[in-house]
Amino acid sequence: MQIQFPPEAFLRQDETPDEQFYEYPRFVAHIDDGAIAAVTQLYREYFAPNSAILDLMSSWISHLPNDVVYRRVVGLGMNREELSRNKQLTSFIVQNLNTTPTLPFSDEEFDGAGCCVSIDYLTNPVAILREVGRVLKPNAPFVVTFSNRCFPTKAIAAWLYTSDEDHLHLVAAFFRAAGNWTDIELLNRSPKRGDPLYAVVAKRAPSAHA
Ligand SMILES: C[S@@+](CC[C@H](N)C(=O)[O-])C[C@H]1O[C@@H](n2cnc3c(N)ncnc32)[C@H](O)[C@@H]1O
Repeated sequence: MQIQFPPEAFLRQDETPDEQFYEYPRFVAHIDDGAIAAVTQLYREYFAPNSAILDLMSSWISHLPNDVVYRRVVGLGMNREELSRNKQLTSFIVQNLNTTPTLPFSDEEFDGAGCCVSIDYLTNPVAILREVGRVLKPNAPFVVTFSNRCFPTKAIAAWLYTSDEDHLHLVAAFFRAAGNWTDIELLNRSPKRGDPLYAVVAKRAPSAHA
C-alpha cells in the first residue's frame, strides 16, 4: 500500500534558505560513539571493499570503516568547510537538495549510498530517493540511518510529530513511493546504552523503472 503524503507533512518551522542554517561549519558528532559504531557496522555489512559510495547529506565525518578501502567516496552536503575536512571522501559537492533535487551523476555510477541522521531535513524525500536509486547500480544498497534527535526547526513536520518507530515506517513509505527500490528492511541497531540507532536499508530495484 502506498501512502499519499499531504504537502503540509513537508513544511518546516524554519523555511529560510538552508544555505543560511548551514553557513557555518559544525565540527561536532551528531550522535554518540556507540551509535556511530552501529552506523559503521552497517556500512561494513552492506558496502563492498573497493566499491564506489555516495555519502548523501555528508559532513566532516562519514562513519565508514577505516580499515576498508573504497574506490571512490563522494560526499554531498551543504557546508564546504565540513566537507573539505572529511578525510574519507575522495571528492565532494556542495548542493542544496531541497532546491536542486537532481543528483549530478550518471545512471548506475555507485555501488552503495548512505545517509546518516539527515533524511528528516529533505522537503521532497521521495524525489531524492528516486534520484539515489537512479545513480545506484541494480541491487545496490542505500543505508538510511537516524537516531532520536534532530535540528527541530529544519526537520519536516511529518518527522517532528511522529515517534522513532513511526520514523522507520515513514522512511520505508518514502522508499516505496519512490518506486525504484526493493527489499526494504527496517532495523533497530541501537547499542545497549546511549543514543538509539535505527536504519532503513533498501536495494535498488533490478530495473530502474520497477
Ligand atoms: C545532522 S547533520 C549530519 C551530517 C552527517 N551525515 C553526519 O552523520 O555527521 C545534517 C547534514 O545534512 C546536510 N543537509 C541538510 N540540509 C540539506 C540540504 N537541503 N541539501 C543537502 N544537504 C543537506 C547538512 O549539510 C548536514 O551535513
